[in-house]
Amino acid sequence: MNQDPDQPANLSAGQKQEHLAALLKESASSTNGDHSQEEIMTRAFVYRSRLRDWDSLASVRGGPRRLLEDEEAKGKVYFSTRLTPYVHHPLVVRLGPEAQRALVIHRLYHYLDFTANFEIEVVNRAAQRIAMGMTGFDLPAEMASDAYKIYCDEGYHSFFSIDLKLQVQAATGVTPLPYNFDRFLRRLYKASEKVPANLKPIASLLTVIVFETLISLILNKLPKDQQVVSAVRQVISDHADDEARHHAFFSSFFEFLWPQLSGRQRSTLGLLLPHFIIKSLEPDYDSIKQCLAVTTLKPEEIDQVVEECYPWKSVIADLRNTASATLRLFKRNGAFDDLPTYDAFQASGLID
Ligand SMILES: [Fe+2]
Ligand SMILES: [Fe+2]
Repeated sequence: MNQDPDQPANLSAGQKQEHLAALLKESASSTNGDHSQEEIMTRAFVYRSRLRDWDSLASVRGGPRRLLEDEEAKGKVYFSTRLTPYVHHPLVVRLGPEAQRALVIHRLYHYLDFTANFEIEVVNRAAQRIAMGMTGFDLPAEMASDAYKIYCDEGYHSFFSIDLKLQVQAATGVTPLPYNFDRFLRRLYKASEKVPANLKPIASLLTVIVFETLISLILNKLPKDQQVVSAVRQVISDHADDEARHHAFFSSFFEFLWPQLSGRQRSTLGLLLPHFIIKSLEPDYDSIKQCLAVTTLKPEEIDQVVEECYPWKSVIADLRNTASATLRLFKRNGAFDDLPTYDAFQASGLID
């Protein structure tokens, strides 16, 4: 069985109760918590499932396979050029339409590779732990059941991403570049390295909560971009519909989880949250440079293109926008009441 190295051993019902009691005891002894012990113990958590109609709504249950049609003759492209700013840079425009076409196709491949890997390697590890009762917390039974549904959704999202990639490769003859997911994972998990071992499993869950509550520009905007070929828009639209339900689930999961942590635990983990948001959303500069390197641009020109297309001021403004629902979720649940956490968010530029 694929075992997350951060994952605690499968706990029995009794062990889970003991674990929860220990967490609550730590909360009670904490002096810098924002919520009193009584408040935590008595706070009623009500789970409202958004996945009750999953059988009739989920892509994996009834959605059609999206088939690519040849729409290039109609002037359509394989990915939104509005979301690929470097194809408009003068140094790239100068290379001509064939080079721009290849860059747009590589942009799509990169997005599909990322999705295929992230769903299985990151989200489904958390979904599995929740579904199998391996988080150490006593979740409502319907949440465990919904996590099973999400596990199926994400497996299908991974599959349909690769299915589409292969269709595009066959239609265009553009060979994909090697994809390095480990590089992304190393950046994402770097902040967790210093977290005490007992909090690493919770840090992994928070990574997924962050990612699943962000509203990605691609999911949000690309399906509406009429410039893009239909199959790509349809696949991403199918994905966005499923992700709206996941967003609700993981928001509830955070609302359940966060108040159960002690003030000290929240303070330690809260410091990681801005990093998780930024590393989940920041443009993948290495991959962009790898794509640009298939053109005749010189290395210093590639650096120039990336620097000029992604000034930090506009990157962080986009990130704030994309993460606005996640930031509201954190605020609503008191995450910013902890001063070091608030300072870390402010220093990151994600809040004022
Ligand atoms: Fe997904
Ligand atoms: Fe998801």
